[in-house]
Amino acid sequence: MKPLFVVLEGPDASGKSTQLHLVADALAAKGVPVLATREPGGTPLGEHLRDLVLSPNSAMNPLTELLLIIGARHEHVEKVIRPALGEGKWVLCSRYTLSSLAYQGWGRGLDLDLIRHLNQLATGGLEPDYVFLLDLPPGVAYERTRERDRFEGEGLEFFTRVRVGYLELIRSVPRAYVIDATLSQQRVLGEILAHLPLPGI
Ligand code: TYD
Repeated sequence: MKPLFVVLEGPDASGKSTQLHLVADALAAKGVPVLATREPGGTPLGEHLRDLVLSPNSAMNPLTELLLIIGARHEHVEKVIRPALGEGKWVLCSRYTLSSLAYQGWGRGLDLDLIRHLNQLATGGLEPDYVFLLDLPPGVAYERTRERDRFEGEGLEFFTRVRVGYLELIRSVPRAYVIDATLSQQRVLGEILAHLPLPGI
C-alpha cells in the first residue's frame, strides 16, 4: 500500500499536537512506518522561521508573514515530506496549506487565489491524502489560548473568521473530515482512525 500523507488542521488549542502523537503511536503499533511533523517548522530553517513568525516581538505585514510561512513549507515539503513518503513512510503533519488559506486568507484578509498559487509553488502540488479538521467553537479556542504567540493574541473576531474559513474551505477538499474537538482525546482519536485505511482496523 502506498504511504499516506495525513494532515491535521484546526484552530490553536484544538489538540492537534496531542492527536498527532496519538495517531502516530496507533500507526506504529500496527507496524506502519510513520513520520510526525508540523508547520510552520519541520526543518531546522523552518523552525527558525516559525520562531520569527510566532514571536510577539516580530510585528510584520500579513504578506511578509505569508511569505515566511510559504518559504518554510517549501523547505519542509522538499527536505522532509517528499523524502519520507519516498521511503515508504506515512507522514502525519500538523497544519499544511489549508492553514495559510484559513489564517492568512480568511483571518488576515489576503487574497485566496494568491495564497493558492503560493501553496502550489511551495508544495509542487503535493496534496494530503486525508485531512482532519479538529473543529472548536471560536469562543472555546479563544478561551483556551490567551496571548501565547502572535496568533493567539488575536481577538475573538479573528478566530471566528478562521473557523468560518476552515469550514468553507474544507468542503472542496477530498477525503477531508470535520471532527468535534470538544470530544475526549480518545473519541477524537477513534474518529480519526476510523477514517484511515489501517491494517487490522
Ligand atoms: P501551531 O503550532 O499549530 O500552534 P497551535 O498548537 O497553538 O495550534 O501553529 C502556530 C500558529 O501558526 C497558529 O496560530 C497558526 C499559524 N499558522 C498560520 O497562520 N498559517 C500557516 O500556514 C500555518 C502553517 C500556521
